[in-house]
Amino acid sequence: MTTTSGRPGIFAVRDVRSLITETAEEGHGLKKAVGATQLTAMGVGAIIGTGIFVVIGKGAGIAGPAVILSFVLAAVACTFSALSYAELASSIPVSGSAYTYTYATLGEIVAWIIGWDLILEYGVSVAGIAVGWGGNLNAFLDAAFGFSLPDAISKSPSEGGVFNLPAVFVVLAITFLLVRGVTESARVNLVMVGIKLVVLLFFIVVAFANFGTGNFTPFAPAGVDGVTSAAAIIFFAYIGFDAVSTGSEEARKPERDLPLAIIGSLIICTVFYVLTTVGALGIASPAQMEGSDAPLATALDEGAGISWAAAILALGAVVAITSVVLVILYGQTRIFFAMCRDGLMPIRLAEVNQRYGTPAKLTIGLGVLISILAALVPLGTIVELVNIGTLFAFVLVNIGVIVLRRTRPEMPRPYRVPWSPVLPIIGVAFAVYLMSDLPWETWVRFAVWLAIGILIYAFYGYRNSRIRNGPQSTPGWAKEEQR
Ligand code: ALA
Repeated sequence: MTTTSGRPGIFAVRDVRSLITETAEEGHGLKKAVGATQLTAMGVGAIIGTGIFVVIGKGAGIAGPAVILSFVLAAVACTFSALSYAELASSIPVSGSAYTYTYATLGEIVAWIIGWDLILEYGVSVAGIAVGWGGNLNAFLDAAFGFSLPDAISKSPSEGGVFNLPAVFVVLAITFLLVRGVTESARVNLVMVGIKLVVLLFFIVVAFANFGTGNFTPFAPAGVDGVTSAAAIIFFAYIGFDAVSTGSEEARKPERDLPLAIIGSLIICTVFYVLTTVGALGIASPAQMEGSDAPLATALDEGAGISWAAAILALGAVVAITSVVLVILYGQTRIFFAMCRDGLMPIRLAEVNQRYGTPAKLTIGLGVLISILAALVPLGTIVELVNIGTLFAFVLVNIGVIVLRRTRPEMPRPYRVPWSPVLPIIGVAFAVYLMSDLPWETWVRFAVWLAIGILIYAFYGYRNSRIRNGPQSTPGWAKEEQR
């Protein structure tokens, strides 16, 4: 059963050792069969999606060709936090990602805040990823058949549409798959990752074959500010590397494979992103990309005038982005599931469907809410909110490393961040720096989101937490579950 370290109240922490043994005793311990390559593929699978295929256009609009530097800056910013994720994932190799790490380190209230915050990184980002999916679907229809869906059913109200049907479609379709228990097997994921990399490689080759230098001047029309502001937006393209940490329980050699996979997937994506961006600017202007819902396809179509290549690219993007929707929505349902099982959300929601063996109610509820968001909110707004939420999670994860080194120095750490606390502090600084570059409206939305979360904790989670109130608060079916 869940235990506390004896600190009562809102800072109650889960005991790390019991967390690990419980997971194994409850029969939820997973087979240690995953190696570095598969873990890296998991990272790349979760990372490459709407960010590079769509958000790149917004970045180019802000920074001009210097968006290339924004991609590098965002990657560097991620690297420091990635090391902290690697340390926590290897020391606390149970699922739940940052939510679980914080429950074991900084206490319940912080865990709740981060779990609530992760809804932005996972749930809300699915809405954004789905909007990018729709943009590429339309670009494919246009390039292949000269037909595209009317704005009324492919754009949000603030962009002149009524609602975004393709985005709703993909969210509900993936929700359906997840209810049925279809998750990505390692093999399917490898195929998806292969498709993504081949599609980007195809883009890079076609772009470099038609390359011109005309679009590179002026290089940084908005100066350093432009570069950092664009980095705060295209940061979205890197979200997902922490998905590797959710595979830590299955890692064969967590101390070696986790950092390798987390950093490896970041490096692979950075190299592809930089080459893709340079290639895109070699065939299209920042203005052409900025105005498009599928900038890479537009670059091939309008910039290089090769419609067939645009059709292939857009179709590849649709496939690539589908897998990101699947992985990230799956991650959201599992984090939410953990929060319900801990009693911080209604435990009834986490009920496992008898027929499919999945948390069906919760999955459908989340899928419907996310599809409403995807239908009505423009991509830019979603991306900013997702980024601020994710960067905030990075801040807490870095702090978690520093705190845990002090409070639990004896805990086995298969992987240790070098030069702690210096690198985690740099991680915090980078995250705060990028957060500070997001518009004030985003900060207001974020503050409102956190305030709602704190209210829910005050009126619900605080009273129903199983860590503080013990297992007697668990309904019968959930107790059955745990035996
Ligand atoms: N990094 C993910 C994407 O670009 C969220 O779609």
